[in-house]
Amino acid sequence: MEIIKTVSEVRDIVKKWRKAGHSIGLVPTMGYLHAGHGSLVEQSVKNNDKTVVSVFVNPAQFGPNEDLEKYPRDIKRDSELVASLGGDIIFKPEPEEMYKKSNATTTVKVEGLSQKLCGITRPVHFAGVCQVVSKLFNIVTPDNAYFGLKDFQQYVIINKMVEDLNFPVKINPCAIVRDKNGLALSSRNVYLTDEETKSALSLNQSLQYAKSLISSGEKKAFFIIDEITKIINNMPYSKIDYVKIVDIDTLDDIDIVEKKYAVLLAVYIGKTRLIDNFTELS
Ligand code: PAJ
Repeated sequence: MEIIKTVSEVRDIVKKWRKAGHSIGLVPTMGYLHAGHGSLVEQSVKNNDKTVVSVFVNPAQFGPNEDLEKYPRDIKRDSELVASLGGDIIFKPEPEEMYKKSNATTTVKVEGLSQKLCGITRPVHFAGVCQVVSKLFNIVTPDNAYFGLKDFQQYVIINKMVEDLNFPVKINPCAIVRDKNGLALSSRNVYLTDEETKSALSLNQSLQYAKSLISSGEKKAFFIIDEITKIINNMPYSKIDYVKIVDIDTLDDIDIVEKKYAVLLAVYIGKTRLIDNFTELS
């Protein structure tokens, strides 16, 4: 397993792989890898001859008051994990390599979908995600790319981008990986104090309750949202950004929970903003 820092080196390696007839999987990440990222790498290794994991804390997807500087980083641990799972290279460019060389001014914006849900509190976020993911697709030219359903809105937006711009890549969704208490794994969980971690469990607990309401026949979205809100608001340190039940294609609110729905939430626990969800795809 090698760590590659430049676009030209990745292109050279990919060229050799293509010549040898290898298929290529890409797992885009911002590093500080955990078992959630690991499950994406495992799927890529299983289904492709070669796997590239990108580790890039992408400045373009952070707003001015967000955690770009303090976002956790540990390339030694990341490379050990990727190597142990059979990944072939980590692509870890510096921001200069990705943006400054061309003084990048081209953006990729998926209108509509990017302005809903997380896009309301994070208005520049998805344009930054789509810009960097497009660049990664063009650099690595993967046959398959792997995205976690933990970031459900991101998954929907990337699919739309790939469809709209005809990127020749298959997007593979991967299930949410949780810790033994049900908390969805996230690089940002490291910000939580022990007390906050206890509060954060209410996210999955409220979703599980919502799931049980839906399976026992409850269809009214406002009622389910109300129950989730009560459970989360009951915990200290929590402040809800949104709790929504939406159509999985349009991300528009739905009133009646029947088919093609996703229950999505974003909650501040102390200063840390966490997201979680369940969908028909879960
Ligand atoms: P990051 O937050 O590092 O996540 C990288 C990938 O891992 C994403 O597809 C995300 O959905 C997936 N992932 C994270 N936690 C997961 C969990 N608990 N279970 C399953 N999958 C999980 O998402 C990003 O980085 C960035 O926006 C990126 C796409 C790399 C663009 O910069």
